Amino acid sequence: MTASPVDAAAPEAPVLSVRDLVVEFPVGRRQVVHAVSGISLDLRAGETLGILGESGCGKSSAGRAIMQLPAPTSGSVVLGDTELVGLRSREVRRARARMQMILQDPISSLNPRRKVKDLVAEGLEVWGSSTSGGDRDALLRETLSAVGLDPDVVWDRRPHELSGGQCQRVCIARALLMDPTVLICDEPVSSLDVSVQAQILNLLERTKERYGLSVVFIAHDVAVVKNISDRVMVLYLGKTCEVLPSDGLEVEARHPYTRLLLASVPGAEEAGQPAVAQTTTELPSPLNPPSGCRFRTRCPLATERCAAEEPRLREVAPGHLLACHHVDPETPSGTDIPSETDPTLEEHHP
Ligand SMILES: Nc1ncnc2c1ncn2[C@@H]1O[C@H](COP(=O)(O)OP(=O)(O)OP(=O)(O)O)[C@@H](O)[C@H]1O
Ligand SMILES: [Mg+2]
Repeated sequence: MTASPVDAAAPEAPVLSVRDLVVEFPVGRRQVVHAVSGISLDLRAGETLGILGESGCGKSSAGRAIMQLPAPTSGSVVLGDTELVGLRSREVRRARARMQMILQDPISSLNPRRKVKDLVAEGLEVWGSSTSGGDRDALLRETLSAVGLDPDVVWDRRPHELSGGQCQRVCIARALLMDPTVLICDEPVSSLDVSVQAQILNLLERTKERYGLSVVFIAHDVAVVKNISDRVMVLYLGKTCEVLPSDGLEVEARHPYTRLLLASVPGAEEAGQPAVAQTTTELPSPLNPPSGCRFRTRCPLATERCAAEEPRLREVAPGHLLACHHVDPETPSGTDIPSETDPTLEEHHP
């Protein structure tokens, strides 16, 4: 086991601590996709941290790298008191049982040939759990009931005999059965219709309480992320733009990209959101990200400085981190956050 930089005995030690996570995919001749370029986060016990950003900004790559599926190109991922990066695969699998991931597309993440009772028990099988026979069935039934499925109805069904929402409940049950401390939800409701989305989000809230989970909730939908999260981390092209409490998100968010996301919510203008100058359309290629601030090619505030100098993530208010040269020129430069400190905890008063 690798020595941990986090003191697990400290009452406020995060359950999951990620530092300088980099995910790069070599493609073609000497080309590299810069999917995630040095993000850091701390997940506190019992909290839900939302990760928000548009398609292609690196959310899934970050979630999978935290799970070591596959391991990141570089960086550190400490779960509890265990550094996962650099562990042998068997040790990673063992540690990873405490961290489960729910995927975006529930149906394709389930083996179509297996029955619900076997799908939910897959994790126990992989781990050669000592729970067997009647105890095992009782545990499966209890977990299925906890996610709102009637065990008598779904027990012998296969994925194609379930709705999308039921499939997602099976995925959640399968994760819960491993008794994780951390749940990473990668767009768990985006493939579901709106009424089912609400049911699954409620289910996640309830199970979080009941099972004592801490949750990383990845999504591109601002309203969903705001509703379910305690804090929101906004990613753009593999970099963190802003981290802030979700309470008051609409009022407090300052990064031009966060403001753009907020303004794109239907009805935002009527709800008093200031209009944001429309920027150029598409996400630049992660093969060759813009120099300096990655958002500058779409940013209405961009200047030469943004091309020349990457803005550092700094604390602009307690618990509010921001990486932008322009949105708050009043902020003294001395509030820059050194990279070795926790960039997502609020108790920074340098
Ligand atoms: N295995 C891979 N090989 C090459 N490029 C990849 C691979 N996986 C992801 N990418 C690229 O990395 C970038 C980030 O992708 P990622 O799936 O992490 O984005 P995302 O924010 O989850 O998007 P979405 O909201 O569409 O799910 C994209 O440009 C994507 O094409
Ligand atoms: Mg994704």
